[in-house]
Amino acid sequence: MRAERLGTQKSVRPVGAQWMMAEKKRRILLNVLHDAQERHGYLSEEALKKISVEENIPVSRAYAVASFYSMLRTRPQGRNTIDLCGSPSCVLNGGGAIERCLKKELGIKTGETTPDGQVSLYKTSCIGCCDGSPAMLLNGMPCTKLTKTGIRKMIRELRTKKGGKGCARPQKKKRKR
Ligand code: FES
Repeated sequence: MRAERLGTQKSVRPVGAQWMMAEKKRRILLNVLHDAQERHGYLSEEALKKISVEENIPVSRAYAVASFYSMLRTRPQGRNTIDLCGSPSCVLNGGGAIERCLKKELGIKTGETTPDGQVSLYKTSCIGCCDGSPAMLLNGMPCTKLTKTGIRKMIRELRTKKGGKGCARPQKKKRKR
């Protein structure tokens, strides 16, 4: 039997149980961090200290998790957030040019916030819109088939507080039959 080849069942089970426990704790911590970010906008040092006490974990662990995931922020962010996908499908479909355009239009580097606090630019991994690459999230909403023209329009709209809906390539109108 497989269990006999691995040793006894007794020696295998505790490893699985430990893994399950660690996975459960990790999920709980991620939920707590997400909730705190929703409430406060970002995960400040004070917030991470408080979470570490409440969850009975070292602050370094809370910080390590918060700084590992690109959707969690350990610094204040702008009123609008852009998360540009940096995964292969988007990069191969012109994501680099879109990133350069965003940086130029905003006058900031990736990971920074505009001086007026209006927009923060981040890079993230695949957001599940590969068929519409290059893609990004604008305030959590997916924008696909990005073009430099669309990006410029979106930035203009964000600056004039219209909402920045022009990031996606306009859909072609269907012909009437
Ligand atoms: S690779 Fe960019 S959305 Fe999947």
